[in-house]
Amino acid sequence: MASQRTLILVKPDGVHRRLIGTIISRIENKGLSLAAMKMLNVTPELSRQHYAEHVEKPFYPQLEEFITAAPVVAMIVQGPEAVTVMRNIIGATNGREAAPGTIRGDYGCSRQMNMVHGSDSEESAAREIDIYFEASEICEYTPILNDWSFASDEV
Ligand code: RTP
Ligand code: MG
Repeated sequence: MASQRTLILVKPDGVHRRLIGTIISRIENKGLSLAAMKMLNVTPELSRQHYAEHVEKPFYPQLEEFITAAPVVAMIVQGPEAVTVMRNIIGATNGREAAPGTIRGDYGCSRQMNMVHGSDSEESAAREIDIYFEASEICEYTPILNDWSFASDEV
C-alpha cells in the first residue's frame, strides 16, 4: 500500500465560518499530513476546470456562484489511501444525510454549503492537484511520526 495524495478545499462557507483550523485538525488527528496549502479565490474559469464533470448540470451555475463567492483554502493531503480516508472523514455530499462524526455530518445541514471538497478518486486527485498547485509548491518530506503511526508496509 503506497502513500496517496488528494486535493482538499475548505470551501467559502468553511472559511467564513472560521472552520479552517477545525478541518485541518481533523485531518491531522486522523494521521494524514499536509504536503501543500494556500488560500486563493476560485475564478469562474478555475471553477469550470475543477468541476468539469458538473458544468452541464442544472445546479452548476449555483455551484459556481458559491465556490467563487469568497476565498478557499486548498491543500494537498497525503497518507495511506488518503483519497478514501478523506472522503470518509468529509462524509456524504448532503449535510442532512452525512453521518455524525464526519465533517459534513457534524458542522452543516446543507447540500451546497458543505464546507469541504475532497477528490473522489486517485485519477481525480492527480487532475485536481495539477489544477491548483505548481510542482514547486508541493513539499516533499517524510513526517517523523509516520514511524509511530503506520506499519512499514502501509506507507
Ligand atoms: P465535492 O466534489 O465538492 O467534494 O462534493 P461531492 O463529491 O460530495 O459532490 P459532487 O457530486 O461532486 O458535487 C459537487 C458539489 O456540487 C454541489 N451539488 N449541488 N443541487 C444539487 O443537486 C447539487 N449536487 C451537488 C455540492 O456543493 C457538491 O459538493
Ligand atoms: Mg465531487
